[in-house]
Amino acid sequence: NFKNLPETIEKTADITKEQLAFLLATEDDAMIQDLKQRARNTGDRIYGKNVYIRGLIEFTNYCKNDCLYCGIRRSNCHADRYRLTEEEILSCCKIGYELGFCTFVLQGGEDGFYTDEKICQIVSKIKAEYPDCAVTLSIGEKSRESYQAYFDVGADRYLLRHETADEAHYKKLHPVEMSYQNRMRCLRDLKEIGYQTGCGFMVGSPYQTVDTLWEDLQFIRRLKPQMVGIGPFIPQKDTPFGTETAGTMEMTLRLLSIIRLIHPHVLLPATTALGTIHPKGRELGILAGANVVMPNLSPVAVREKYKLYDNKICTGDEAAECRFCMQKRMESIGYQVAVNRGDFQP
Ligand code: 5AD
Ligand code: FES
Repeated sequence: NFKNLPETIEKTADITKEQLAFLLATEDDAMIQDLKQRARNTGDRIYGKNVYIRGLIEFTNYCKNDCLYCGIRRSNCHADRYRLTEEEILSCCKIGYELGFCTFVLQGGEDGFYTDEKICQIVSKIKAEYPDCAVTLSIGEKSRESYQAYFDVGADRYLLRHETADEAHYKKLHPVEMSYQNRMRCLRDLKEIGYQTGCGFMVGSPYQTVDTLWEDLQFIRRLKPQMVGIGPFIPQKDTPFGTETAGTMEMTLRLLSIIRLIHPHVLLPATTALGTIHPKGRELGILAGANVVMPNLSPVAVREKYKLYDNKICTGDEAAECRFCMQKRMESIGYQVAVNRGDFQP
């Protein structure tokens, strides 16, 4: 029955845990090629040959949390901390807009310096200046009231990876203070408020198993997020997980395909982490069913400092270089960079 597996997934969006285990482990190349092709065809049917670009602005690497895997965790005294001013953030948007970006992703650690008032002011200014653009926030766990306030001033989307949908696994990645329950509460609130909402997880994080991945897929089926961000776990040497093994490209590609097939309309990035573990990772991610890329718009002066993991790519490249590099990469595989907001298509 495994022979017809990919077809089954596409038709029923109903992969079982046993089938998941099989697909992640198999060395049957023809079957995997088939899985990726079906995922890619599904993406093409909905979004065509378009790949959406999001301009990523990493505006602070201060963080009050202490996630064991993350290079900007508060206990990492080797992290060289920075914050961008409102003017600097707006200047990144200007450069990005001129390069054809219509989505700005403001991402940062959980940094109390940026009060709700400050965030609202930044979002309002971007929306006033670029009314045809979408603003995505990726600034972690907040109260429902805060999420509502950002939404009311025009924030369109919110990325908050759930990290793992298995509560015991969540505790192993975040042993202190953070809670699985609150993470889930945040995602529910974001979706209810009306954000295009993104969840996601790392592939190959320490203690991940087929069972925890299965919970991730079940969670995606329940939440029906507009976006899902996944990328390989990559150790950062100054963290407690600094000597753990990285996730693999192949596992990430298979999971991208499976997610495309179980949730066909999802906006699915081929992430920087995927590009970091393999020189053609992002292209292969698109070919496995992803349809979004997120080139960096942060000022080159701070790029090196936003180091969630080691060996991150593009840290020396200006925004324009990444923009055109990405265009060449996508064209090399028969896709085009779409110069529009790239909203979720229900
Ligand atoms: N390797 C890969 N991804 C990481 N992230 C954080 N640390 C790492 C790492 N070492 C991911 C988390 C987070 C997102 C912003 O980056 O999933 O949600
Ligand atoms: Fe940054 Fe290629 S995308 S240099």
